[in-house]
Amino acid sequence: MDPITNPFSPGAGSPPPELVGRDPIIEKARILFGRIKERRAEKSLLLTGLRGVGKTVLLNELERLASSTGYRTVVVEAHEDKPLGPLIAPHLRGVLYNLDRVAGAGDKVKRGFRVLRSFVGALKVTYKDVEFGLDVDPEKGSADSGDIEIDLPNLFVAVGEAADERGSAVALFIDEVQYFSGKELGALIMAMHRVQQRQLPIVLLGAGLPILPGLAGESKSYAERLFSFPEVGALNADESAEALREPTLAAGVVFEPEALDEVFRLTKGYPYFLQEWGYQSWNHAPLTTITRDVVVSATSTVIERLDQNFFRVRFDRLTPGEKRFLRAIAELGPGPQRTGDIADALRVKVTSLGPLRARLIKKGMVYSPAHGDMAFTVPLFDEFMRRAIPTFTV
Ligand SMILES: Nc1ncnc2c1ncn2[C@@H]1O[C@H](COP(=O)(O)OP(=O)(O)O)[C@@H](O)[C@H]1O
Ligand SMILES: [Mg+2]
Repeated sequence: MDPITNPFSPGAGSPPPELVGRDPIIEKARILFGRIKERRAEKSLLLTGLRGVGKTVLLNELERLASSTGYRTVVVEAHEDKPLGPLIAPHLRGVLYNLDRVAGAGDKVKRGFRVLRSFVGALKVTYKDVEFGLDVDPEKGSADSGDIEIDLPNLFVAVGEAADERGSAVALFIDEVQYFSGKELGALIMAMHRVQQRQLPIVLLGAGLPILPGLAGESKSYAERLFSFPEVGALNADESAEALREPTLAAGVVFEPEALDEVFRLTKGYPYFLQEWGYQSWNHAPLTTITRDVVVSATSTVIERLDQNFFRVRFDRLTPGEKRFLRAIAELGPGPQRTGDIADALRVKVTSLGPLRARLIKKGMVYSPAHGDMAFTVPLFDEFMRRAIPTFTV
């Protein structure tokens, strides 16, 4: 069928034609936005899940929900090498300018600018390239200690008070939260703690890999009282069928039940893979019916595309030693593997694997779902590793 009218949308952050299976999380967010606006306490949300399950897409959906309910929103994405302060400061300036346009008496917005100016002044000492125009004098002694765990809470309080004064509320959306250092994550948690204690209208909605609850807990033991960690996962068989059936039906095309079963078997319900299989099956279908045979004939193209894009970008960032480690995990089979077994497969001592393991966790390739276990952060990565390196040799 015509690729131009293809409804499916494989790609990082590409909104799916049908956002399936996320109603419970959307409902949680709706309650959070409503309660915080009324100055009632509620836990902020940190979405967790593997790569390609739909965290970014869901975060963007929640951003729309917040905007439509009157929140000033900030959307940022953390990177391995972008520190929290410089990342967030320009956006908070935007929020303050926005609040400044709202009619209302009081000087909290002006104070917000001065505290932000202090915060940025302190950042400039560490990060030379922070460039920032702000036409106010800094408020000396607020948010300018240079210690992010002190400064960020002060800045959040100032912004929260400004929003409160103008009868508004602020929602911060942060993707890939696991990339922050322990110190930065700690600062973020402390800032939200202060905001909550003062009942100020700021909410945080983050997303990250499944290691996130562990990182947050390690950083500040009270994190679990401030945040809930909804899991974004694979869709079940019914939801997967819906994700494929509804968009095709809307275009007058039938996705046959046997074809839906086959896609679920191949994808295990992972959203990114559902989009990819839906997309190629559509293009391969000669007529307006997607049969099981069409899915089967599209599969080699799908695997090729996944190998060249989704999997390959991660593979190419690895050193030979890292590849060998990951190939050993794949050799042991799908699902989490004991670190001891990985060491045996590589014929090395467990203790010698520490640094390699730490590097791969930092790169977001693997995580530890339980003590002593290692698993891939990308679904079906074990199958890819076996295709990429067909024979495992030590
Ligand atoms: N609920 C869903 N139903 C169907 N497809 C989805 C859903 N959520 C996400 N997708 C699709 O999955 C892919 C990955 O989404 P993304 O948000 O980038 O994942 P993540 O941020 O977890 O890596 C996209 O192609 C998107 O269209
Ligand atoms: Mg994402």
